[in-house]
Amino acid sequence: MQSERSPERVKGHKIAVIGGDGTGPEVVREGLKVLAAVSKISGFKYETIDYDLGGDRYLKSKELVPESVLKELSKVDAIFLGAIGHPDVKPGILEQGILLKLRFSLDQYINLRPVKLYNSNFCPLKDKKPEDIDFVVVRENSEGLYKGLGEFQKKGTKDEVAIQISHNTRKGVERCLRYAFEYTRKRNKDKKLTLCGKTNVLTFAWDLWQRTFNEVAGEYKDITTDYAHVDATTMWFVKNPEWFDVIVTDNMFGDIITDLGAMVQGGMGIAAGGNINPEGVSMFEPIGGSAPKYTGKNVINPLAAICAMGMMLENLGEEKSAKQVEDAVIKVVKTKLKSLAAGKMGYSTTEIGDLVVKNL
Ligand code: IPM
Ligand code: MN
Repeated sequence: MQSERSPERVKGHKIAVIGGDGTGPEVVREGLKVLAAVSKISGFKYETIDYDLGGDRYLKSKELVPESVLKELSKVDAIFLGAIGHPDVKPGILEQGILLKLRFSLDQYINLRPVKLYNSNFCPLKDKKPEDIDFVVVRENSEGLYKGLGEFQKKGTKDEVAIQISHNTRKGVERCLRYAFEYTRKRNKDKKLTLCGKTNVLTFAWDLWQRTFNEVAGEYKDITTDYAHVDATTMWFVKNPEWFDVIVTDNMFGDIITDLGAMVQGGMGIAAGGNINPEGVSMFEPIGGSAPKYTGKNVINPLAAICAMGMMLENLGEEKSAKQVEDAVIKVVKTKLKSLAAGKMGYSTTEIGDLVVKNL
């Protein structure tokens, strides 16, 4: 019988590529270089489709994400994104108009951010080894403060009030928690899931989160559960990162703690993430920004983008290739690089891409 998916299979994975702004296109190029190499080794097929989105397009045409592009993106197998953010565009326009627009429109309700140290030399924490820093943050990616709800009252007067609402739905919270429990089970490391919140102050939102967490936990008796306030979580990231296996949290707290996570794993040069819609199209990106000052200099670290590409491979069902990419990155980080920071790595952007290819 001819299955519906078979014509697709012959053509392979359809990957949309958005280089975006600043150093985005440079790091994406290295990610695609490694993708090409690993696909040759493993024999899977793919095609890429480039989309020109970002600050330059916006400055030329005032376009952010045209409806037609959104429609096309909703039909690909995955999206590989470089960076969004342009020094000549007012902060917020591109972030909300492109990055958040894509996350929300494609209902990528999970932001998955692994925090893994590959080489102790690059860890700012004293005496921490790779086995001490190996956890994953599951950040809710569609609600909370990012929903953009609120208002000004008496704007511009001395009695002005600005209200910014954290909007949490039972359905939105529950689907995120269920993903986190399933992920913890599948990861099969310590089988421990920590809810990171602020139940002692934010008594509406975190009451809902905690109640739902406790309820869902009842279905996962094999998972150990824990709770930590967000402020204490930042303390423990520095003091005892080895306590964590998987952490689940809301959109705003997840944004904040994953920047700290990126630092303890060695910096933005290595931090990757996936915006996941488990039932739809997911988007993978290095979590550092567009780094305008390094643009075009061939000095930015492409490893975060290469790791994001590896996460994309796993999402596409190419687990073996994903592991090969990660192992190659580990080898390069352990044996070659002087630093993970832009301009200090001992190699150029393109040379690092080549090194990863050589170590596949
Ligand atoms: C991130 C970024 C974005 C966020 C910005 C650029 C909108 O900081 O991916 O963490 O806040 O989610
Ligand atoms: Mn962030």
